Formats: sequence, structure tokens, C-alpha cells
Amino acid sequence: MRERRTQRVAVFPGSFDPFTNGHLDIVERSLEIFDRVIVAVAFNATKDSALFTPRERAEMISEATHNRRVVADAFSGLLVDYVERSGAQAIVRGLRAVADFEYEFQMAMMNRHLRPQIETIFIMASEAHFYTSSRLVREVAGLGGDVTGLIPASVRRRLARKLKERARS
Ligand code: PNS
Repeated sequence: MRERRTQRVAVFPGSFDPFTNGHLDIVERSLEIFDRVIVAVAFNATKDSALFTPRERAEMISEATHNRRVVADAFSGLLVDYVERSGAQAIVRGLRAVADFEYEFQMAMMNRHLRPQIETIFIMASEAHFYTSSRLVREVAGLGGDVTGLIPASVRRRLARKLKERARS
């Protein structure tokens, strides 16, 4: 009888406000290791000051990845609880420069403390995305700078629309 191999599933969590080409790079690299990648937008149900709603962020991720092995979702509460609920075995996080390490190390250790069986895997971002961050993309786009090449085209359109809406209100 053929043995049924368990699917390797990873959760790639983040704020994704907005989803960048750096995030897309991490998703593509994760697909080389995992059968399925759940890109999970973390939000705080009581105080979330993000530019995009969790739903908009999940939609942006689906549009930008359009791969049947990638699922875009949103969650609030503890990441490890979400990972357990979704049947994943690992958490994927992207690493850019050394500056990311301290924060990532702390989170990985806290998550290990909470659920020792869930492994955190770090994937190095491509050097092309070392300086890309959602915060800088928001700031540059908000001040009228060109963010072409830093975010997927579909995200760029949504960002332009959102900034226009914001300026009107
Ligand atoms: O993209 P970000 O903002 O760096 O992602 C941080 C994120 C969402 C991964 C982290 O804040 C998180 O896991 N939030 C969910 C709540 C939680 O589990 N907090 C304890 C983590 S140690």
C-alpha cells in the first residue's frame, strides 16, 4: 500500500500593509520547501491602525500570488493558535538585514515557548528587496514618490486608490 505523505504546510504571518515584492519573494521561496503556504494577515480586532483593512490585505495577497498552493487569510489573536488551527507545521518569516534579527529571534523564541512543536523557518530575502518594507512603501507613496518595482502592480493600483480616498476625507 502506498504511504500517504502528510502535506507540508507553512504559515507566513505579517501585517502586509501593504504586501510588497519582498513578501512575494518569500512566498515563492517558501513554495520550494512547502506544499502549501498560508499567507496570514495579523490584525488587532480592537486597535488596528493599518492603512488597509484585513480583508483588503488578504485580497491583495490573493491577487498578487494567484497560485493554488497559496492561501490568503486573516487572523487576530495568538499566531501559534492560528498555526495550530490551520494544521500547519511551521511559521515562515523573511529576513532582510541584521536589523531584523533581534526582533525575529525574540518572536521565534516566544512562539517556541508557547508551542515547542511549531518550528520557525527564516528565509533570506533576495538582495533586490533588502531595503523594501511596507512602512517605507506607505511613506514614499504617501509623499508622492514612485514605488514601481517595490510592490506588485495590483497593490500599486489599490494603494493609489486608497491614498486618493484618504486625501479626500
Ligand atoms: O509584519 P510584521 O508586523 O513584522 O508581523 C508581526 C507579526 C504579525 C508576525 C506578529 O506581530 C504576530 O505574530 N502577531 C500575532 C499576535 C502574536 O502571536 N503575538 C506574539 C508573537 S511572539
